[in-house]
Amino acid sequence: MEVSVFGLGYVGTVTSACLAKLGHTVTGVDINEFKVDCIAKGKSPIAETGLEDLISEMQAAGRLGATSSAEEVIRSTTVSLICVGTPSYENGSIDLGFVERVCRDIGKALGGVNHFHVVMIRSTMLPGTMEDKLVPALEESSGKKVGVDFGVCYNPEFLREGSAVSDFFNPPFTLLGATDDRTLRAAQEVFSSLSAPVFTTSPRVAEMVKYVANSFHALKVVFANEIGNLCKKEGIDSHEVMRIFCKDKRLSISEHYLEPGFAFGGSCLPKDVRALCARFRETKTVAPVLESILSSNQNQIRVAQKMIEETRKKKIGILGISFKAGTDDLRESPIVSVIESLVGKGYSVKVFDENVDLSRLLGANRQFVQEEVPYLPSIMCFSMDELLDFAEVVVIANKGTGFKDVGGKLRKDQVAIDLVRIMEDASDTAGTYKGICW
Ligand SMILES: NC(=O)c1ccc[n+]([C@@H]2O[C@H](COP(=O)([O-])OP(=O)(O)OC[C@H]3O[C@@H](n4cnc5c(N)ncnc54)[C@H](O)[C@@H]3O)[C@@H](O)[C@H]2O)c1
Repeated sequence: MEVSVFGLGYVGTVTSACLAKLGHTVTGVDINEFKVDCIAKGKSPIAETGLEDLISEMQAAGRLGATSSAEEVIRSTTVSLICVGTPSYENGSIDLGFVERVCRDIGKALGGVNHFHVVMIRSTMLPGTMEDKLVPALEESSGKKVGVDFGVCYNPEFLREGSAVSDFFNPPFTLLGATDDRTLRAAQEVFSSLSAPVFTTSPRVAEMVKYVANSFHALKVVFANEIGNLCKKEGIDSHEVMRIFCKDKRLSISEHYLEPGFAFGGSCLPKDVRALCARFRETKTVAPVLESILSSNQNQIRVAQKMIEETRKKKIGILGISFKAGTDDLRESPIVSVIESLVGKGYSVKVFDENVDLSRLLGANRQFVQEEVPYLPSIMCFSMDELLDFAEVVVIANKGTGFKDVGGKLRKDQVAIDLVRIMEDASDTAGTYKGICW
């Protein structure tokens, strides 16, 4: 393909040289003459392992060049990738000036061409930027229509400086958030010779994924450092600890515990986080991230509570009271806090959970119920149908058997509040469906 790459910084230079290596004919565009000159002479404007050799090889093969004229490349290419900077303002928000300017430059040039042009954006930008800011800029400056005369696709870059060339050829996946099928097909063709899986989605999701990835990487670094600081005080080798911890690919380094939903609870996580934080304080070790876990969890309980109260209905049915399905352990179950608060505020509450038989609870679990929710026997239902007959609001608090059928059983006047994403598709329900964080 004939491809242009706008912005010859870290991302743009690597992208240009690597796309040429994949077989495309690439022209880089930059307002900085020095960078244009470098590429045109087969040299790298940045220091990056393996890049200079690749640029020189591709330039000599006639597959990589550079220019400062947007107009010229838009005429001669069918796909443009935008890799200009999106730096921070002092308040943390991002400066979209460079991407907006490039879009206007491309738009102006698009006004004079007849082919369907695909604009792919690799710069990191917050969700909604593509659709709310850049598409209007492109349409306004070109006088053309997205999806008809040109297409846009958000394609975040996941490379790391220092191993950027190797990361380009071995990405975790290729993510394409395109506005229409024709654009998506062209974008797929750009990366067709990479073996990584391709995920297609909306521009907004793709924009968000990039921030989720970088925030999570940042979170991992500070988490490991806080653990490391405590380990040092305790005379424990933090590297040995983390090495062993990371061997658990089933629960620790895995998809588990990464589904947005309700607060955690049960007899272990809250207790153990509390104990670890107590040890941080005893040893005078600062750990802002670990210390904020429990307050973030409390906040999620408040989010659920607020959603229920905002329905302005008074008869609340709770499906699932144990902290997760398949157990009768009620200790520190976060929905119990919600129930306590609702009962205290005068709401009429009923609960159904097939795993919880109050007459059979034992030990600490029994003691918890007797001390914390002594009225529980009087609000338990014997079946889901009994609860649905009573409730104006149905809160699904764990993934108990049969709870996913609630959607089909709701009356028109009932509201379902789903805390666990029990329903993937709520379109067939007669009632109103609300997810806690979706
Ligand atoms: N650096 C990384 O490791 C990395 C990794 C993934 C994503 N990103 C994201 O990619 C984007 C680019 O990052 P970078 O580090 O390559 O930036 P950079 O600052 O190194 O390069 C940006 C380039 O864009 C050029 N430019 C500015 N306006 C232009 C215009 N109107 N026309 C043509 N060129 C123009 C600049 O001259 C500069 O050469 C950012 O949004 C960044 O957040 C960076």
